[in-house]
Amino acid sequence: MALCKRRGFVYPGSEIYGGVANTWDYGPLGLALKRNIKKLWWQEFVKKEESVFGLGGGIILSPKVWEASGHVENFTDPLVECKKCHHRFRADQLDAKSCPDCGGELSEQRQFNGMFRTFIGATEESKSIAYLRPETAQAIFINFKNIVDSFHPKLPFGIAQIGKAFRNEITAGNFIFRDLEFEQMELEYFIAEADWEKHFDYWLKKLRQFATMSGLHPDRVSEREHEASERSHYSKKTVDIEYDYPFGKKELWGLAYRTDYDLKTHSQKSGVDLSYVDQDNNKFFPHVIEPSLGVERTMLAVLCDAYWQDEKRVVLKLKPALAPIKVAVFPLSANKPDLVKKAQLIYRELKNADYDVAWDDRGNVGKRYYAQDEIGTPWCITVDYQTLEDDTVTIRDRDTTRQERVKVANLVSWIKEKLLES
Ligand code: GAP
Repeated sequence: MALCKRRGFVYPGSEIYGGVANTWDYGPLGLALKRNIKKLWWQEFVKKEESVFGLGGGIILSPKVWEASGHVENFTDPLVECKKCHHRFRADQLDAKSCPDCGGELSEQRQFNGMFRTFIGATEESKSIAYLRPETAQAIFINFKNIVDSFHPKLPFGIAQIGKAFRNEITAGNFIFRDLEFEQMELEYFIAEADWEKHFDYWLKKLRQFATMSGLHPDRVSEREHEASERSHYSKKTVDIEYDYPFGKKELWGLAYRTDYDLKTHSQKSGVDLSYVDQDNNKFFPHVIEPSLGVERTMLAVLCDAYWQDEKRVVLKLKPALAPIKVAVFPLSANKPDLVKKAQLIYRELKNADYDVAWDDRGNVGKRYYAQDEIGTPWCITVDYQTLEDDTVTIRDRDTTRQERVKVANLVSWIKEKLLES
């Protein structure tokens, strides 16, 4: 957490006003890491798939969506309040009979809805209530017919969305694990009912692969199937992908078999037919397999897994594809204009080649390496006196610390190759 703050990954939300629990702001490097996670997900779950369509559904949908989906009634947690200090706790996560903060008496348990409420228009009355979406999935279901009408896809096909979701979490989170505001990467994969197990297994395998691609060590990733009593109201089978965080094994991502629950209820409640007609003129509600991933939770697992330390250095051993900065460029000495000029040219060239590149000419090269290791930059390029003679530079590898000399003319392709290899 200290590294994340110091080096510009994650800042506590609204810090100068004392903070807001479970909110965070993302600095340049955190933003880049999140962007890279989303890019990798989009590449694997949308672009590489045969028939997956992207969607940018709204954060504010009709409140009728959340009534139909069951969230108004069921998206609740049991809550107790301390009668003395008025702190609130999730009853199902509390072992003690009295308030853990002050020892006070706890209230009776009541259900607390996790959706944020707001109002549309000028008046605050029940007619104008709106909710900030607690999942991106519902925008997909209510646009199912739009996608079918525009693209006429054959089953199976998917609709995917990356976007913000909001939950009024009352449990104090572990860093960015549980947030009021977070991003989801969700795919609703529409299938014929008979095939659900096959598709469930396919997406489970895909999630395992995505964990490996994100750099998570297989020993720290496990799976846990939900008991019937803990499954969401819409699900017939749910498997959590769990990660062994420093604070324990906890949910990383979810995979749910949502049946035809959502399309069916939206059809009933909206009066618009959301069924599907296949090539043989059979009309039915497709069933749904849903892999759902949180961006921040992924980022936290990726950071925990990548953090490495010995007596000499702290290194974020991030997968190069996820590293916020791919390469850093240094002139050996900041007060040698020839070296600085050449290094600037290389820096510009790599930037123009669309890489995230850092420049550093402060202190000595050792300190610069240390600073780049700490933020996970896989490669550091140093322009030295030999560069001026033979147009080669040294490239130093973050993990092995080994250096090799590479021709300046080959730098762009060298980095490209290394990124493909890693
Ligand atoms: N549409 C299904 C759905 O929303 P979920 O298990 O409630 O299922 C999916 O959420 C994923 O979203 C979780 O596995 C987690 O990665 C992420 N997530 C959920 N609540 C979160 C929160 N409060 N803060 C950060 N990430 C969260």
